Amino acid sequence: MKIGLVYNGKNPPAATARPQGADWNLEFDDQETIEAVARALSRIGEVVEIEAVPGCREKLAFHRPDLVFNIAEGFDGPNREAEIPMILDELGIPYTGAGPEALRFCLDKHRTADFLRRRGVPAPRGRVFTAGEKVSWDLSFPAIVKPLREGSSKGIRDDCLVGDLAEMADKVDRITRRYRQPALVEEFLAGREFTCALIGNNGDLELLPPVEINLAALPPGARPIYSYEAKWVWDRPEDPLPIFTCPAEIDENLKSALTATARRAYLLSGCRDWARIDLRLDRSGVPHSIEINPLPGILPRPEDNSCFPKAARAAGLSYDDLIARVVETAKKRCAL
Ligand SMILES: Nc1ncnc2c1ncn2[C@@H]1O[C@H](COP(=O)(O)OP(=O)(O)O)[C@@H](O)[C@H]1O
Ligand SMILES: [Mg+2]
Repeated sequence: MKIGLVYNGKNPPAATARPQGADWNLEFDDQETIEAVARALSRIGEVVEIEAVPGCREKLAFHRPDLVFNIAEGFDGPNREAEIPMILDELGIPYTGAGPEALRFCLDKHRTADFLRRRGVPAPRGRVFTAGEKVSWDLSFPAIVKPLREGSSKGIRDDCLVGDLAEMADKVDRITRRYRQPALVEEFLAGREFTCALIGNNGDLELLPPVEINLAALPPGARPIYSYEAKWVWDRPEDPLPIFTCPAEIDENLKSALTATARRAYLLSGCRDWARIDLRLDRSGVPHSIEINPLPGILPRPEDNSCFPKAARAAGLSYDDLIARVVETAKKRCAL
């Protein structure tokens, strides 16, 4: 079997990079991750690595892999994650994970939360503001301000948890200008935080052991959010924060509530093969879906504190087993 690995690397060819600020490539994969995935895939078939930059359509058409393992995040805009799946659909090449419509949908955190809430899945209430728009707020404080469609806590700084309108307007202004996209302001869910990794499809969907994000492990004075600083500054491979507990220490009631919310969010949003749902409890202990990650991060080294591989390890799956499971799931769905 010929397997294509389509990715966005942290150092794309200069002519295709579109740097904006120091964190412009935060969502992209480092060489170590690309190599680790390629190594895992090489146990299943012949691997062709293709960087998701202009010209990749021609490479895909030339190599015609039997299946693509897609981890490409795309550069910019509301369709960035959908671009490669659209090309693959057009070429008739099957691939792992969600299709373009679900990727585009989940990237918009506000649309996803509203959609889920209307279907009875708890999700935070929020408002969206575009650059220069007057900020008003009819929901409760504290609130959290974040870019509408980023990941890896890009733009979610420790100071994004705000207590009044002036602070909110300041963060909205910073985010809309810096990230050239609307800012999403949400009611802050103050309870425990979890993330649930799922593998499978309709009828056969497995939840890996939930991970708790131990916000109490953050340095003194830090706000209780899994911010940019928490992910990339305070937690370093050479000095990791004890930020995850997996399996999470939870009772059966909470486990089934988390499972139900994560499963419904996954299925309603049209995820396929694998995805990770971030959840947080409100004051009364009800899990809310904060966001859906149909392209979950998969840093290979345990010290890098990456949730999906961590949950897989707790389920007895090595990194290579995890990649193989995703491939198997996609093959089954596509009847390959
Ligand atoms: N509505 C919310 N209530 C409470 N905490 C939130 C909320 N939205 C985001 N957070 C906090 O911010 C972190 C990052 O937000 P998230 O939307 O998951 O961004 P990313 O896509 O960058 O992971 C979450 O892990 C959580 O700690
Ligand atoms: Mg998240």
